[in-house]
Amino acid sequence: MKNGFVIAIDGPAGAGKSTIARKAAAALGFAYIDTGAMYRSVTWKLLQTGQPFSPELAGRLAREIRISFRPEGSLNCVFVDGTEVTEAIRSAAVTGLVSRVAAVPAVREAMVAQQRRMGREGDVILDGRDIGTVVFPDSPCKIYLTASVEERARRRGKELEAKGQAVDYDKLQADIVSRDKQDMERETSPLKQAEDAVYLDTSHMSIDEVVGAILKLAAERRLRA
Ligand code: CDP
Repeated sequence: MKNGFVIAIDGPAGAGKSTIARKAAAALGFAYIDTGAMYRSVTWKLLQTGQPFSPELAGRLAREIRISFRPEGSLNCVFVDGTEVTEAIRSAAVTGLVSRVAAVPAVREAMVAQQRRMGREGDVILDGRDIGTVVFPDSPCKIYLTASVEERARRRGKELEAKGQAVDYDKLQADIVSRDKQDMERETSPLKQAEDAVYLDTSHMSIDEVVGAILKLAAERRLRA
């Protein structure tokens, strides 16, 4: 069976990957897989057990968990073992722990296997940290999406404020820097730009401009594929 066309978007925390990937997928009629939501789901499930973090527990839960996505308007709803966790996986508790969970090799093994399975089902956009380097290294269309840390903190802060949460911008920025450091320095599948990825600094670009740039690149690469 011929595989679908895979678009791989990687980049640091808060670069806007999920907003961009969701819009680009809708415009192209592709499926969208938010791989960060998958690591967040494992972390949520671990917190639900009430037990402290351990690599063994995280690995076991990652093998057992059933994660599914359902797009609903501008939302990409996430379900864990049948329970909706779309909002719950964005909590501060999950965000604070997710990079430790995502560094566990057994967790990555289980998630990557699932991502490859979903990616083989048709045309798809995946966003994450290791899509172009590890999950789909043969993707003909890779983007490394980033922005200055100040701009990423500003965007994330606005998102939280829109949800009615109080925001401490200095703390938000420090948290983003710390998560990027963990994601870039871990041994298994660290965040880095794939050699053949197109680097896109979105600090001074609007969402529509970024989506447009990705659609243009995808069209060029599809002609070549
Ligand atoms: O949306 P945000 O930038 O806050 O992050 P996310 O995409 O939801 O990812 C949350 C965390 O999951 C990251 O900080 C990584 O630790 C981990 N992750 C990963 O290790 N590999 C991926 N492919 C995607 C996410």
